[in-house]
Amino acid sequence: MKKEIKKIALLTGGGDCSGLNAVIRAVVKAAILKYNYEVIGFMGGYHGLYTDDYIKMDLKTVAGIFHQGGTILKMSNKDNLFNYKTVDENGKTVYKDVSDIAIKNLKKHNIDALIIIGGDGTLTSARDFARKGVNVIGIPKTIDNDVPATEITFGYRTALDHIMLSLDALHTTAYSHDRVMILEVMGRNAGWLALEGGIAGSADVILIPEIPYDINSVAKTIFDRYNRGSKFSIICISEGAKPIDGDVTIKKIDKDSPDSVKLGGVGDILAAQLEKIVKPVTGQDIRVTNLGYIQRGGVTNTFDRVLGTKYGSHAVDMIDRNEFGRMVVIRNNHMESVRLEEVVGSGRTGQTSTGGARIVNPHGDLVNSAKDIGISFGD
Ligand code: F6P
Repeated sequence: MKKEIKKIALLTGGGDCSGLNAVIRAVVKAAILKYNYEVIGFMGGYHGLYTDDYIKMDLKTVAGIFHQGGTILKMSNKDNLFNYKTVDENGKTVYKDVSDIAIKNLKKHNIDALIIIGGDGTLTSARDFARKGVNVIGIPKTIDNDVPATEITFGYRTALDHIMLSLDALHTTAYSHDRVMILEVMGRNAGWLALEGGIAGSADVILIPEIPYDINSVAKTIFDRYNRGSKFSIICISEGAKPIDGDVTIKKIDKDSPDSVKLGGVGDILAAQLEKIVKPVTGQDIRVTNLGYIQRGGVTNTFDRVLGTKYGSHAVDMIDRNEFGRMVVIRNNHMESVRLEEVVGSGRTGQTSTGGARIVNPHGDLVNSAKDIGISFGD
């Protein structure tokens, strides 16, 4: 029998991206205006669910947030309630399952369904709550756009805009000084951000994890351009890119994060290599910019505002239809859903460094088009 829904809750978990507020706004508006549900939001992801830190959400709470990056509900990627870090009476760090406390809080507030917006770590816990009987709907988020079950995630296109504008800006200064400019971008083990951002920003070389690069091939592209009279070159490199004979560059290991391996710094390594090969021949300086967290913030663009609205309103329709234990996806530009059991865990929604994420096809149309217009992948 269909469950009557009166009150729902939502939370945002993991790392942020642009478009989260658009989803939150859509959930709250659709829940109130279409279904007359009551809505509360837990603060700081699962931490708020555990500590019962929440806000009542109404139309006023979500007024004026549509265009803003970040999330008004805040978020954390360190609060796995099934393996929660606490300190025991002897001051020793211990991990324990505190999920029952979270479920008690949901019961206390008479929550009929919980919308969880997050990456693989967050949605893995969503699946685990569903296994314990909580009526859960997952919404995937990542700027990396590597979730296999869905065509596109919100935040990705806004991040691409940042990359494109940064490459535009780097062009003018590269030209003025006859320099080689390297822009390192995010994306973990998927090269979508560097690939599409690099094409849009007119990069001469794009280096992505899916195509390990040969440093001599990268240098050859720079030399060819120099000899043709283009005395500057622009390289867009993924944080997960690696040389043919090497591995990814790890910035740090964060044991408290479900995605403990933090990538970063490959741009500097590439610069050091090119200093040795290119500079002695052409005299060009090599400079590196790491775009970093700028890619996750700023004003949400048109596409992500619309996409976030679609994800959010669809999740509320799923609650009405009692389609629980599922994640919202978009296929052929149509909103659908898949079972959380099928898509989370082992990095399959693309939020961990393990396999399973939707990655770039090195022989696909996008790479081929880029190659057709002379962009080098260092292969
Ligand atoms: O998955 C999104 C992402 O921004 C990646 O592109 C990046 O490697 C990672 O998150 C950074 O994570 P953190 O916020 O933990 O530093």
